[in-house]
Amino acid sequence: MCGIIGIVGNQPVAERLIESLKRLEYRGYDSAGVAGFVGGRVERRRAQGKIKALEAVLEAEPLAATTGIGHTRWATHGAPNVKNAHPHTGGRVTLVHNGIIENFAELKAELIAAGRVFQSDTDTEVIAHLIDAELATGLAPLDAFKATLDRLTGAYALAVLIEGEEDLILGARRGSPLVVGEGQGEMFLGSDALAVGPFTNRVVYLDEGDYVALGHDGYRIFDTSGARVERAVRVVPTSSVMLEKGNYRHFMEKEIHDQPEGCQRTIAAYVDTLNATAAVPGDVDFAALERIQIVACGTSYIAGVVGKYLIEQLADLPVDVEIASEFRYRTPALRPGSLVIAMSQSGETADTLAALRYCKAKGMKSAVVVNAQESTMAREVDVVWPIHCGAEIGVASTKAFTAQVSVMIALAIAAAKARGRIDDAEEQRLVKVLLEAPRLIAEAIGLEDAIKDIAADVAKARDVLYLGRGPMSALALEGALKLKEISYIHAEGYAAGELKHGPIALVDDQTPIVILAPYDAWFEKSASNMSEVMARGGQVIFVTDTEGVKHAPEGAKVVVTAPASDPLVSTLVMSAPIQLLAYHVAVVKGADVDQPRNLAKSVTVE
Ligand code: AGP
Repeated sequence: MCGIIGIVGNQPVAERLIESLKRLEYRGYDSAGVAGFVGGRVERRRAQGKIKALEAVLEAEPLAATTGIGHTRWATHGAPNVKNAHPHTGGRVTLVHNGIIENFAELKAELIAAGRVFQSDTDTEVIAHLIDAELATGLAPLDAFKATLDRLTGAYALAVLIEGEEDLILGARRGSPLVVGEGQGEMFLGSDALAVGPFTNRVVYLDEGDYVALGHDGYRIFDTSGARVERAVRVVPTSSVMLEKGNYRHFMEKEIHDQPEGCQRTIAAYVDTLNATAAVPGDVDFAALERIQIVACGTSYIAGVVGKYLIEQLADLPVDVEIASEFRYRTPALRPGSLVIAMSQSGETADTLAALRYCKAKGMKSAVVVNAQESTMAREVDVVWPIHCGAEIGVASTKAFTAQVSVMIALAIAAAKARGRIDDAEEQRLVKVLLEAPRLIAEAIGLEDAIKDIAADVAKARDVLYLGRGPMSALALEGALKLKEISYIHAEGYAAGELKHGPIALVDDQTPIVILAPYDAWFEKSASNMSEVMARGGQVIFVTDTEGVKHAPEGAKVVVTAPASDPLVSTLVMSAPIQLLAYHVAVVKGADVDQPRNLAKSVTVE
């Protein structure tokens, strides 16, 4: 989604805006722009494409300002071109926006009827004209801003400049995140802590509906009713170390390699390592719980599916997992005795947030498994189950996925114990298995060279099929999602048992078939699926483990042997091979691995 930065500063602002926008690139974008006060007027510089295009514009036409705003745009209304790039201007007002204004068409018609002329196709430009029109009635800037916000339907995070008000940036958030960064004699506004990280680690997270007036010496926050409010100042570790790629070519590569540490830190927050018992934070009574409803999107949804297998199998507790964008519109039959768990790396995904709010409105207790612990979801649920893998920058989720699965495994153990399904000894055994998982993940990552060799072949494929059974059927979905979202090769993940019900028609000698088969209860059936596929010329990449390789049918084109693991953690161990395969195929294809086309790290619009 779009990225926003605003600086009421005391030094040249152009380079600072660019530095911040570079930290927001991971959100995905297709154009960028900045604006600032130059001699009492507001000047803009905008460019289509990557930030280096904007830097070239600034090189040719410097922006000599100390206060300004910046934006990376992920197109919703209007094509990704300079005309539609933010910042947008209406009269004295210039602003940047993240979100979608749902009633912009009627507002635009009203403004055109009043004689306003528009330069762009965006919903954002309407907001600038609205504020300007309110100013023209004589309202003070803050009142004109509030009057405008009250007329908007939809989601927004805004940063606003008004000509003649050089010691002021106005900001507001509804449905899209926005933070204030506290500086010394200067103040900052950004989409998240990373955006203001180069300038301060003192961050104030605005609440839903808040709006704010920033000046050099301070800021005033107001809630949706217009009342002045105070919000907590948090010191946020946005150390540049977390943000650098280190010796990796891409953030995704670094984040794949960060998984052992990320899972280890996460697991440590959910178990008592001394006594090898589950120690899940938050007051959820798993014994009394009748059902769990998981809502999520993309890879987070797949982590939820893995959780379903493990929680139902271990705790005999019903779990439904649903794509959030479907769930929220189908009038699901919900019961108050259930727990809704939102799964979300960003904690801002619009569909997941809406589904979560739907369940809360039905009286369900709510929890979120989340990486961004100050996100909207984290601040709206009853129970926060954080993952501790650090900021995930690559658009394709890797370390957050395995950290989410780690939490689901811990929940499964805790629920099983609370419901009397396992005794102390079994709880300790399972917790020890979980504690060993990071080492096995590290070993699996060690397969990278072998997987790199496969990648060149897979990169030539037009279609790729991923098959698995049990929790591996979920991992088949994840393998396919990883490959298609960063290499742009069409891929499908299927429950292997479904092969004969259609997908086997796809099998020919041009189609790589990745079969995920650790040596578990489903192994024999997966092995027979492999034979069926090979009998039809299928090119099988058999991903198994050191036990399974002893029993694997002959004839696979490639066998990848991961370390053997307990079924409880095999999805953690088998994730690395499929992530590495997707990564290296994308590298072979020269794709933009960290910022794949059309994608955003956090989809904060429907
Ligand atoms: C995963 O690789 C994708 N980037 C995408 O599917 C992502 O998982 C999805 O958009 C959900 O994001 P969230 O976890 O931040 O809610």
